[in-house]
Amino acid sequence: MIQIAIDGPSGAGKSTVAKALAAKLGIVYVDTGALYRTIGYYVRSKNVDPKDPVAVEALLPEIEIELKYENGTQIVCLNGENLGDKIRTPEMSMYASAVSAIPAVRAFLLDTQRDIAKKNSVIMDGRDIGTVILPNADVKIYLTASNECRAQRRCDELKAKGIETSYEEVLADMIERDRADSTREVAPAVAAPDAVTFDNSWMTPDECTAKLAELVLSKTGARA
Ligand code: DC
Repeated sequence: MIQIAIDGPSGAGKSTVAKALAAKLGIVYVDTGALYRTIGYYVRSKNVDPKDPVAVEALLPEIEIELKYENGTQIVCLNGENLGDKIRTPEMSMYASAVSAIPAVRAFLLDTQRDIAKKNSVIMDGRDIGTVILPNADVKIYLTASNECRAQRRCDELKAKGIETSYEEVLADMIERDRADSTREVAPAVAAPDAVTFDNSWMTPDECTAKLAELVLSKTGARA
């Protein structure tokens, strides 16, 4: 079984390349950000402050999260409901980031993430995969890009989903979210010491995927 960890800030293209690599390798892609987004969504639906650790922790027993795969696509169900793109809005990004700083939330999601990697070869993307979730991963990648490139990509993604925002707003939100994610006390979003850092600012998704496929081959012998 293979474990590949891809961490890095928002908009670095982690999910795009992780999905492409998973398809090439025939392994499972796990988008862990979706789990935090799902908790953020529930907290929002209950009108609870996502920065209030006591109130958020009190909601956790009401939450059942299930990861499913349909035609190779990950589906996250919250108490039996597939939330689809409802967790992809800028507001849900901020809710996810806020709840992800709460230790009880991270503990709540730990087994879901480790269990799937116990049963399947995986490529998992997130913020603490190489540092906390899969510390013995075969390959650890820290994917990043300039703030401007990442904000432009996020804008394009949101536009494609019909969500209108300005570039300036996306850039400011992104910088604030990265600051919060990388400076929190538990599992801050940082590169694992043994991760290979990749700046893909000037690469197309295909070029980046090809580079990472070479890295996977050199570390595991698996041909992506
Ligand atoms: O990858 P994303 O943008 O969907 O993640 C949303 C938020 O969830 C992100 O701002 C921080 C948090 N997160 C985390 O703390 N740890 C992870 N492994 C994945 C996401």
